[in-house]
Amino acid sequence: MSDLKGKFAVVTGAGKGIGAAIAARFLREQAAGVAIWDYDLCLAEQTAVQLGGNAVAICCDVSDSAQVAAATQATLAAFGRIDILVNNAGITRDAQFQNMTEKQWNDVLRINLDGPYHCCKHVVPLMREQGYGRIVNISSSSANGNFGQANYAASKAGLLGLTKTLAKELAGKGITVNAITPAMIDTDMMRAVPEKILSRYIQIIPLQRLGTVDELAAAALFLASDDASFITGVTLPVNGGTFIY
Ligand SMILES: NC(=O)c1ccc[n+]([C@@H]2O[C@H](COP(=O)([O-])OP(=O)(O)OC[C@H]3O[C@@H](n4cnc5c(N)ncnc54)[C@H](O)[C@@H]3O)[C@@H](O)[C@H]2O)c1
Repeated sequence: MSDLKGKFAVVTGAGKGIGAAIAARFLREQAAGVAIWDYDLCLAEQTAVQLGGNAVAICCDVSDSAQVAAATQATLAAFGRIDILVNNAGITRDAQFQNMTEKQWNDVLRINLDGPYHCCKHVVPLMREQGYGRIVNISSSSANGNFGQANYAASKAGLLGLTKTLAKELAGKGITVNAITPAMIDTDMMRAVPEKILSRYIQIIPLQRLGTVDELAAAALFLASDDASFITGVTLPVNGGTFIY
């Protein structure tokens, strides 16, 4: 697989979990710099220190357009350009629909869907100017609908719509836009699922285990690399063979 030599990347929500693994993999593949955007600055700084000199930690709540504008400027000041944007920050606030509060609905939509919108809004103009960009959006298999996740499913399905539309609008500008739909990756988000439900889920994964953050990072690397230069608007499932649960 081609490396990321000379490329500068932003990974949102990279303080831990999937985002941190993507940042680490990008740097192992010789990315020139990775900006760790996270609303938890302590986490972002810990991760940046672990990853070494080419990682910078930037405090950014992706649901706030002004913070995204400031983080974009801070990244430009550090790197001079942004070649790759990974929209990874995301949360769950699960409840069956009849019990789901307006706050649970709004919190998830603001972070999981408005967040990528704000990041694209501020970063895409730079990519258009450069005539080059790679955007990777971390959606979810829950975009197909999932019990107790009306808010999360709607946000992640919306993200697929954003991905496919931007792919068409930006294809002539040297910018590709793709999505990954993970399921059952072993992170804190997954560990929040009650043990009984989790073991039921694992039984119906054809590969019979949770995925690792490194397996997800490998898919993000492919879509961010020039090996994927003729691929745009696709959704890549990374889910151990699971399509319905
Ligand atoms: N773990 C899975 O099985 C799984 C499955 C499908 C999709 N996903 C998606 O993958 C992405 C990463 O999930 P994870 O499992 O690593 O989660 P995680 O909870 O382990 O990590 C999420 C990171 O995002 C940060 N974050 C949350 N809200 C933020 C905000 N508003 N602004 C900036 N940073 C913010 C957190 O501080 C944290 O560092 C999410 O979008 C999630 O929906 C995960």
